[in-house]
Amino acid sequence: MNFGNAKVIPTVVRIESYDAELIRDLYARTGVKIDRPNRAFFQDSRNILLVCMLGEEPAGYLYAYILPAVEDERPRCHIYSLDVFEEYRRRGLGIRLIEAVKAIAVQHKCRKVFCVTNKSNVAAVGLLAKANAVTEHDDDVVFVFR
Ligand SMILES: CC(C)(COP(=O)(O)OP(=O)(O)OC[C@H]1O[C@@H](n2cnc3c(N)ncnc32)[C@H](O)[C@@H]1OP(=O)(O)O)[C@@H](O)C(=O)NCCC(=O)NCCS
Repeated sequence: MNFGNAKVIPTVVRIESYDAELIRDLYARTGVKIDRPNRAFFQDSRNILLVCMLGEEPAGYLYAYILPAVEDERPRCHIYSLDVFEEYRRRGLGIRLIEAVKAIAVQHKCRKVFCVTNKSNVAAVGLLAKANAVTEHDDDVVFVFR
């Protein structure tokens, strides 16, 4: 990927320890102000935070959970949040983040990886389809208790 005059290879890094400044920075890049990031997230190795780096610069992030299932021993992987910062979109970074979390899901022997989005989110739907994800039921809806 060209970055100024230099060619920069994107990398995906798993963040395994609490770094409040990094987390605040990642969220600030998406317009969200975080006061107190959650240290406990990093105390469970089934919680996954991946950051896509362009050189020293974060360009996007994903967080996900490995979830144990009751009905069989193979867990599921839930991609909860995925963002590529606006100026870095359409360069394949979203796909890289998804491929990286899928590789971790394989290590955990997950039965499947899932991600909830909105049909109206053309970018997310396009990304998930390009990454070969499928919709299992066309009438799925998400209910939230607040
Ligand atoms: C969705 C998002 C993560 C995609 O990241 P990205 O780095 O731009 O995605 P990629 O460059 O890897 O795109 C891979 C493919 O997804 C599809 N895609 C991505 N953005 C698209 C768009 N705006 N419109 C249509 N298709 C799109 C294309 O098929 C693309 O391949 P192509 O560029 O060769 O055509 C990014 O747009 C984003 O952060 N959006 C805001 C947050 C969000 O909606 N997150 C998803 C929640 S599930």
